Amino acid sequence: MLKIIRTTPYTDQKMGTAGLRKKSQVAMQENYVENFIQSIFDAIGGVNGKTFIIGGDGRFYNKVAIQKIIKMSAANGMKKLIVGQNGYLSTPASSKVLLKNKADGGFVLSASHNPGGPNGDFGIKYAVASGGQCPTSLSDKIYENSKNISEYKILETADIDLSKIGSQKLENMEIEVIDPLTDYVEMMQNIFDFEAIKRLFAGGFTFRFDAMNAVTGPYAQKIFEEILGAAKGSVVNYIPLEDFGGLHPDPNLIYAKDLVDLMYSDKAPDMGAANDGDGDRNMILGKRFFVTPSDSLAILTDNYKLIPGYKNGIFGVAKSAATSTAVGRVAEALNIGYYEVPTGWKYFCNLMDSDRITFCGEESFGTGSSHIREKDGIWAVLFWLNIIAVTGKSVEEITREHWKKYGRSYYMRNDYDGLDTEVANQLMHDLEERLPSLKGKTFGQFTVSEAKPFIYNDPVDGSSTKNGLIVYFNDKSRIVYRLSGTGSSGATLRVYLERYETEKLAENVVEMLEGLADVSRQIGEITERTGKTKADLLT
Ligand code: G1P
Ligand code: ZN
Repeated sequence: MLKIIRTTPYTDQKMGTAGLRKKSQVAMQENYVENFIQSIFDAIGGVNGKTFIIGGDGRFYNKVAIQKIIKMSAANGMKKLIVGQNGYLSTPASSKVLLKNKADGGFVLSASHNPGGPNGDFGIKYAVASGGQCPTSLSDKIYENSKNISEYKILETADIDLSKIGSQKLENMEIEVIDPLTDYVEMMQNIFDFEAIKRLFAGGFTFRFDAMNAVTGPYAQKIFEEILGAAKGSVVNYIPLEDFGGLHPDPNLIYAKDLVDLMYSDKAPDMGAANDGDGDRNMILGKRFFVTPSDSLAILTDNYKLIPGYKNGIFGVAKSAATSTAVGRVAEALNIGYYEVPTGWKYFCNLMDSDRITFCGEESFGTGSSHIREKDGIWAVLFWLNIIAVTGKSVEEITREHWKKYGRSYYMRNDYDGLDTEVANQLMHDLEERLPSLKGKTFGQFTVSEAKPFIYNDPVDGSSTKNGLIVYFNDKSRIVYRLSGTGSSGATLRVYLERYETEKLAENVVEMLEGLADVSRQIGEITERTGKTKADLLT
């Protein structure tokens, strides 16, 4: 039975870098999810006669929220809702399903790499018909609606069984439950040289993929073990759990600790990889060797000809401003377009839609291409496997050859967590005002050549976005400052450090960047203002 429920607005439903992200306890408040969903429906002129997709990373509260959204969709007159079986769809798979079905939009229930559970985070990402997350103009409209909402529509009915593949009706809406793997797996088979990778595994290549108890487990088992023949047990933590088994499913050197320990031990396999909660991030490791995401993007781009799906040529490449400049040197050598955008995957989408770029990536372990409109963790792992299979070289050899050819960007991100929001905003505000006065000043061995806010003028829709502050030095070093837009409480200051070297290719990244880290604290007045003498997290 259709119900119109009276509700009062929440004032905090503003989407950040990647959709709405809140503490589970916040999202569980009465009408919280309902308000947000109705605000979306209203912002897009209703859903009458439209088709949408929904799925998520399996985290706590997804099941409840998915049922709410299904019942609201039917009540609002949606024509069809495509749902991943048991509510599972990785972020990249959802983008594919959305595009393949020419759906009008999609919901991915995930707080990405943030921990899950009753005390963890919950999130909803809203994608538009092009397959990417909704543009700022639309999220602003949704936010306005959410502050003024007074009622929403929902069906009063029993929960829908999402365990069986096939179609069913809810009032006038068709619900199609699909296998979350099929379309994604087929797409990967069409891009990569699966025969070459099969030969690689058949020849004894050893591999470990850590799904971190999140949604990529079933995808990885199917692709790496079943189809490509990696040894049984190569994929670990493959059952999606509501709280990720207590893991923080963020594939970096800190949180993917078990994998990192293995890769730096005597038992290390030839390659190691991990994905995040919703499967859009990736980390690549060789034996006792870590590839930074910035280098990974540069290396993949430089080797595109080895991949069947790209061998006929690529458009340009893009990176977020905070990502190292390594891929810029490759773009120059290949003579392809090169773009720097603000942080957040949505900025890449216009460039892909207009055939300006094929590849793109962020320092935060996100890499992807125009095959979909989200970053794609398993795609990146397959790209590396394909390169290794064709060249016969190890992860380390491939990376070292890259540095030899192009020089090396020593790169690191320093996060200052749990800051008071006021303090963090003031720090950024005051630093921006000081930027012009920095030019020409010397800090130890570093002399500032330029210092300015990063402003992106979108070549496609003409919009202009300011995201972060950049200090450039004479020796091509850079420091980028920005505030995180994905936290669920407090503020995080991210400081991105980069030094470019062609000659002395020292090994220790932390040592190489120690001086610059000090300079970053000095320029940003970080210690005075936050009391922190060092960063909380180095990635
Ligand atoms: C973080 C990353 C950013 C990424 C986003 C979503 O956003 O830094 O690169 O696109 O998560 O995965 P931030 O918290 O920095 O705003
Ligand atoms: Zn993610």
